Amino acid sequence: MVDLHDQTLRDAHQSVLATRLRTEDMLPICDKMDQVGFDSMEIWGGATFDACIRYLNEDPWERLNKLSDALPNTRVQMLERAMNIVAYSNFPDDVVKEFVHLAYKNGCESFRIFDALNDLRNMRIPIEKAKDEGAHVQGSLCYTISPIHTVEKYVEKFKKLENMGCDSLCIKDMAGMISPSRAYNIVKGCKDAGIKIPIDLHSHNTSGMTGLAYMKACEAGVDILDTSISSLTGATGQPPTESLTAALQDTEYDTGYDMDLLMEIREYFEGIWRKYKHLHRDQALRIDPSVTVHQIPGGMLSNLVNQLEKQGAADKYDEVLKEVPRVREEFGYPPLVTPSSQIVGVQSVMNVKFGRYERITNDTKEYFRGMYGRPPGEISEEMYEKILGPDWEDEVIDERPASLLEPQFKKKRDELEDMGLLGKPEDVLTYTIYPDIGLKFLKGDVEAEFYSKDLPLEEPDKEKEVVKRPRFDYPFEGKVKVDGNDYSVKMEGKNTVEVNGKKYNISVLFPEGHEASKTVGKDQASEQREGPTGEETDIGAPMLGTILDIKVNPGDKVSAGDPIAILEAMKMENDVPAPKDGTIKELHVNKGQDVEENDLIATMVG
Ligand code: CO
Repeated sequence: MVDLHDQTLRDAHQSVLATRLRTEDMLPICDKMDQVGFDSMEIWGGATFDACIRYLNEDPWERLNKLSDALPNTRVQMLERAMNIVAYSNFPDDVVKEFVHLAYKNGCESFRIFDALNDLRNMRIPIEKAKDEGAHVQGSLCYTISPIHTVEKYVEKFKKLENMGCDSLCIKDMAGMISPSRAYNIVKGCKDAGIKIPIDLHSHNTSGMTGLAYMKACEAGVDILDTSISSLTGATGQPPTESLTAALQDTEYDTGYDMDLLMEIREYFEGIWRKYKHLHRDQALRIDPSVTVHQIPGGMLSNLVNQLEKQGAADKYDEVLKEVPRVREEFGYPPLVTPSSQIVGVQSVMNVKFGRYERITNDTKEYFRGMYGRPPGEISEEMYEKILGPDWEDEVIDERPASLLEPQFKKKRDELEDMGLLGKPEDVLTYTIYPDIGLKFLKGDVEAEFYSKDLPLEEPDKEKEVVKRPRFDYPFEGKVKVDGNDYSVKMEGKNTVEVNGKKYNISVLFPEGHEASKTVGKDQASEQREGPTGEETDIGAPMLGTILDIKVNPGDKVSAGDPIAILEAMKMENDVPAPKDGTIKELHVNKGQDVEENDLIATMVG
């Protein structure tokens, strides 16, 4: 018998709906899903924590609580990124332990723990802590293809994870590129090596060969397969739960699940799929066997597509896809999963936009320093020198990166208390893990993103016309007539628009390349400013993102390459460098502001 592990409430919508599924759309179906008899259900972790506070104005801890209550008969699981927890960089041991403790306390019964680089040193603390709490621990290794990722290496590391106390193991094929023979060989290799604990295979439809891989894994003795309800599978999601159940019926691997019940669940998610249609992306829905060449995971792919579209650079898609494997080889073959997928992804986008390694992100430098863990393969001295400079040897560390970090939980707790924002202890972690957006969320300043339920029109056809039509100069306030209906529209900044008193994020309301341009008043334009003189140079944003920090003040002298501001794009931090030596004349942005590509950040003279 084979059991299924259901990913509908975590990875499925992370892969095909940009992680935007809301708790209110999950709860009504939990009772039915709880009756299926799944081995377990993943409902939390991965990118869902971030999406909750960033886009949905939802408390992720409440989601965990409600879902675990609504699924009393099913073991609920989270995806835990080792020392990165649910974010993109390392946290100190005390924060990781506190997180595992509180996640368990809020109903998380199982932890799938993985490290992007498969560095077991990074996995030890969360594994031990989750075991201490009494949770089920699934030790997970990222599956990837490279000359150094052999079947023997995987078997050897899985054996180590069993010895570290894991209750089950997972082959985490986040890019959906495992071939039938590789799936067979790894599972069989583990069984032959005497591994006793259950083995789970996690994959995505992306390559088109995953169904075959699952069947071969069954033949090799796999215990659990990861699936999602068909409505949310697309091409970058998991193989469909219903299809797998049907395929294995009347074989020795029969799951024994009730197909009628699964059909009722499917019916529910068909409605959910329609409800989130503003997030449908063509590329997330089409099988793409080229994944076996470029090896880009589903989540990263939809993220790249989304980001390139927003930047008006969708035509660079193919070039970026070609650049990713080159960068990856130069980085020592990291598996492409968060955060290494973002590091490699953003650096690849930079290489295509500005020339190879003309701009190097801070995260690329940190990766080369060993701050994410040990890169799996050798990196050439030439690359080290290119990224870190001639003294690179002094910068690269050899120890477990989190061991260099000071404890943080108490300090963060005190900070929150001083700000008068300390509620439950879980809030301290929300703030520690996401200092900027977490704080904004705790202050109550996050606006839930628009979704189709909020649309001011009832008929779907009209909705589309409204979405494509308007072009506003801001600031703007007035009535807009569409198909005989009046709307009062107000627009104060370029990012939000108010329709009939309700606020929307404009890029979501008008995904088809809306236009908003600023009307500058006469007073503002003729305003004279005193300051340094010389040839003026405008410094623009290299890409769409958020200004995390501003490093200079007007009047500061800077040298070419000095950071002017830190821009967060695609969840990674990037320096915006001074293009030449000179003096900062004026700043045009504030900390926390969203900018689009080429938006003015600063003016300098010199
Ligand atoms: Co996945």
